[in-house]
Amino acid sequence: MERIETAEALRERMGHWRRAGERIALVPTMGNLHAGHLTLVDCARERADRVVASVFVNPTQFGPGEDFAVYPRTPEADCAALAERGVDLAFLPTVAVMYPGGVPGAVRVEVGGPLTADLCGASRPGHFGGVATVVTKLFNLVQPDVAVFGQKDYQQLAVIRALVHELAMPIDIVGVPTRREADGLALSSRNQYLDPEQRARAPLIHAALSDSAAALRAGARDHAAIEADATARLAAAGFGVEYVRFVRPDDLQTPQGDESRLVLLVAARLGSTRLIDNIEVKISE
Ligand code: PAJ
Repeated sequence: MERIETAEALRERMGHWRRAGERIALVPTMGNLHAGHLTLVDCARERADRVVASVFVNPTQFGPGEDFAVYPRTPEADCAALAERGVDLAFLPTVAVMYPGGVPGAVRVEVGGPLTADLCGASRPGHFGGVATVVTKLFNLVQPDVAVFGQKDYQQLAVIRALVHELAMPIDIVGVPTRREADGLALSSRNQYLDPEQRARAPLIHAALSDSAAALRAGARDHAAIEADATARLAAAGFGVEYVRFVRPDDLQTPQGDESRLVLLVAARLGSTRLIDNIEVKISE
């Protein structure tokens, strides 16, 4: 596996592959890789001749009081895991490479409108703009045919689909199902912030989502009541619930009642650790 840190070296390598007619997949990450990230790599491998993984903790997607400074950075272990998984090239740029005009820089990509107005967009102002900006930069540097993202960050995936569609980027966006611990907790680099007692409570998020989905499948139609139930259950276990919300999977807007599929999204804090998760529900009449 090649390890590259500059835009020039990356462009040269990409040009070489593209001229050879090879199909290129990109897996963007912030590193501290776990088995969830590696399933994205497997998916990328199946869809392309060459797999590029980026590892970059993007400063512009973190808010003022958030965990940018302490976000776990483990580049050596990340590169070892990526090499073992068959990645061809790991791109580990510096902040100066990604933001040549400084941070935040004068050029920013925003996905506005209803897709980002609510949910994580409401609780983390500026977050999705930071994501859209860095992902656009990565897309321009790598010019991949396909890029792979996790469904765990459901709103992020929707934002990236909108970005690519609106800016007519010729990139196929693929979403991969969430990889979980045996007890249901979605794998996340932020899980390591949890102390043992919090870690023991964390799977309740997935349990509450699963039970809410089961209620819907069993015929319950009062979304607000199911959301309130799940919220109360999490709050009783000490979570600071930001939102528990049924939305339509495509545009993340409030259901109109005639949907055959919904997604239930949750964001909740345990202590200072913010966890997100979601579950898709097929509704059969
Ligand atoms: P990061 O949190 O490192 O996640 C990188 C990718 O891994 C994202 O597409 C995310 O959805 C996916 N992922 C995380 N946990 C997962 C799990 N348990 N199962 C499956 N996939 C999972 O998301 C980001 O980085 C950044 O916002 C980024 C897109 C790289 C832009 O900076």
